[in-house]
Amino acid sequence: MSEFDSAALLERAIRLHPDLPDRLVAWQRTQGRHHLPWQQTRDPYRVWLSEIMLQQTQVSTVLGYYERFLSRFPSVVDLANAELDEVLNLWSGLGYYSRARNLHRCAQAVRDLHGGHFPGSALELQGLPGIGPSTAAAIAAFCFGERISIMDGNVRRVLSRVLGWEGDLALRAHERALTDAAQRLVPRDASDMVPYTQGLMDLGATLCTPRKPACLTCPWSDLCEGRKTGEPERLPVKTNKLKRGRRENWCLWLEQGDAVWLVQRPHTGIWSGLWTLPMFASEADLHAAWPHPTEAQPPLTHVLTHLDWRLHLARARTPAGSITDKALSAVMAKVSEPRLGEGQWVPMAALLAGERALPKPFQRWLIGD
Ligand code: ADE
Repeated sequence: MSEFDSAALLERAIRLHPDLPDRLVAWQRTQGRHHLPWQQTRDPYRVWLSEIMLQQTQVSTVLGYYERFLSRFPSVVDLANAELDEVLNLWSGLGYYSRARNLHRCAQAVRDLHGGHFPGSALELQGLPGIGPSTAAAIAAFCFGERISIMDGNVRRVLSRVLGWEGDLALRAHERALTDAAQRLVPRDASDMVPYTQGLMDLGATLCTPRKPACLTCPWSDLCEGRKTGEPERLPVKTNKLKRGRRENWCLWLEQGDAVWLVQRPHTGIWSGLWTLPMFASEADLHAAWPHPTEAQPPLTHVLTHLDWRLHLARARTPAGSITDKALSAVMAKVSEPRLGEGQWVPMAALLAGERALPKPFQRWLIGD
């Protein structure tokens, strides 16, 4: 087969059907994961919540958040009726807060447009905020047995390898070809869609890993084109890998009595709507805003998908009522990060009571959580 020939790719998928799905289903039933809490239900609300949480977060981290969310919001309507701040607070620590905002918006759309029930097909699910094609497919396959393939990073890797697909997935046509092939591989029988879909996830998470795949125990081992080449790790091919960025900021922990000065991020972009300490582009800017911080702490690095964000901390305390408006506006004039308004004094008690949603690093600094 020509390396990038999508017709040949499709042909190979058709030829391997139903062998590939049948073996995966049998393997998942005996070797796969069965005890994750979101596997014990076909309720689309619960499955949707788990899929959104799992998008950029490991299973072990999600478990606690999942239980807390469900005990606070037992139904999608309970979630829709909550204040966004409460949702962001419960989300705090999971990162990528646009997911939490979309979660809330999606719950409201389900309440307002669908009578409080998730629609029953991948196509309709995709019309909801924050639900992309792969998440829609996962919900539809798990909850309604729809014969549609998920297509996340793990599945791209697993299928590129087994089908020997060398096309560069940075190109839309190559990605599309793999998606079409994936769709040819779904089981004929709708009742196999749950173990098949979970099997793709389990294979990607446990055997067909990015490095050192465990080919010897793989149910597809003798059929796998990637393995035949001796270098399964070469696949998938994706050229325009994101370059990780670096960013550095200096944060001022300014206290007056028992309150701390916090600023709110705008409702767009990173950490949207959350509260942070005032952040400066350089140490010089921080010192220009507040010349004598009394205490420093070791910097920490907050890791995002595209970015390592190094955060330095300087601390300053003043007696209650002693900071003039002029001093405060000098501080704010030098702040480099986008913000809504000038900020406000927030009593520590309010922070401890969870009344302001804080990004993880600030939560760790301010309330030691
Ligand atoms: N990642 C995304 N969905 C998942 C699921 N249902 N089980 C385990 N990991 C997942």
